[in-house]
Formats: sequence, structure tokens, C-alpha cells
Amino acid sequence: MAEKITIGVLVSGNGSNLQSIIDSVEAGKINAEIACVISNNAKAFALERAKRHQIPAFYLDHRSFSSREEFDSHVVDLLQEHHVQLVVMAGFDRIITSVLLNAFPLSLMNIHPALLPSFPGTNAQRQALEHGVKIAGCTVHFVDEGTDSGPIIIQAAVPAFDSDTEETLSARILTEEHKIFPKAIQLFAEGRLSVQGRKVLIRPLSESGGNLLENPAA
Ligand code: GRF
Repeated sequence: MAEKITIGVLVSGNGSNLQSIIDSVEAGKINAEIACVISNNAKAFALERAKRHQIPAFYLDHRSFSSREEFDSHVVDLLQEHHVQLVVMAGFDRIITSVLLNAFPLSLMNIHPALLPSFPGTNAQRQALEHGVKIAGCTVHFVDEGTDSGPIIIQAAVPAFDSDTEETLSARILTEEHKIFPKAIQLFAEGRLSVQGRKVLIRPLSESGGNLLENPAA
């Protein structure tokens, strides 16, 4: 079996996505180890979830740094101390800077509760409802310098009903988030993702693993 990759997870809140990643790792569905969880919110339940699973958990108060860059540079230090290869933003409510981006090129993923490029930014589910969409969903994407604008890895769609509230739609979307985030991480762990311009190409399993033929002419 291929070597496990090392993940660092950035969180700010409840951490249900973190939980889905922890559960997938423990079930052997993701070939990875979660090396650390970092929160900018002391009260995030995500920190408690990490501790329950013996994952090193850290709180970094963004208000105690003089700039976004300085905060990010401390996040990078922590991630590097834990030999993190893939950084996963799972409900992390901070805008990140080039300090974090440049330290993890094409190794930073985010989950967003909308079918991007529609409804980037905050309150995505409310934006979708107010717009009157019939189909909503979620997106896992690589992070770039924009807001929720990086290359798309996986999306999942759900129906939006006239009777929906922000809460009911969010819950329906969240169920799908818990499926596609672990999947995207496992694709990364298998080395099957590559980026060409805006597109993320997913290499089929048959080409990536196992019995590749060697070209005798090469
Ligand atoms: C999710 O809806 C995610 O898409 C968004 O923030 C929410 C985090 O939920 N970025 P949780 O903390 O993982 O439960």
C-alpha cells in the first residue's frame, strides 16, 4: 500500500466536515494521517472532536497578530512542524494570504456550500435560496488567491425546495459535503489530481496504480 499522506485541518466552528474526514481516515477510506487541527476560534467544537480522537489540536487567536500575513505565517509554522503535505480548510472562516498559499502550492483544499462559481463568499446557502435556485450543492476546490475561485475538484448537487429555509437547505448540502470532501482528499492521497489551467484532471485508477506496463523503448 502507498505511504500515507499527512493532513493538517483548519477549522473555525462545529467541525462536522472534520468529523467526516476523521471517520474516513479511521475506516481506512482515506490513506492519510491527520497530523494536526488548527482553529482560530477557541470555542470551536472541532477542537473537541480532534482531542477525542487524540489528534493534536491548536488554537491560534487571529486577533493577537498584527496582520493576516503574520497569522498565516504562524499557521504555516505549525503545519510544517507537523510535516503536513495537504492542508484542508473545513469550515475555516478566515481569508488566507499568499503566505499560506505559497507554502502549500496546489496542496490547499476548501469546501464551499454552493455550486461554484455561483454564490461564493459568506451565506452561500442564503444567497442560493434568495436567488431562487432549484438545484443547490457544494464544491471542493483547490484554493487560489481569490474568494472560492480555485480549480474545482468535486461537486455534488441537491434539490432546493420552495419550502426550504436556510437551515433545511444547509443540512441537505452538509450531508453531501461529508461525502465529497473525504473523496477529494483520497484522490489527492492517491496522486490522481492534476491541474491544467482552471481544470482539475482526475486520473482514472487503471492508469495510476499497480500494473503499469514499462515501455521498453523508453
Ligand atoms: C460548511 O457548510 C462548509 O461548507 C462551510 O462551513 C461549514 C462548516 O461546517 N465552509 P462544519 O464546521 O464542518 O460543520
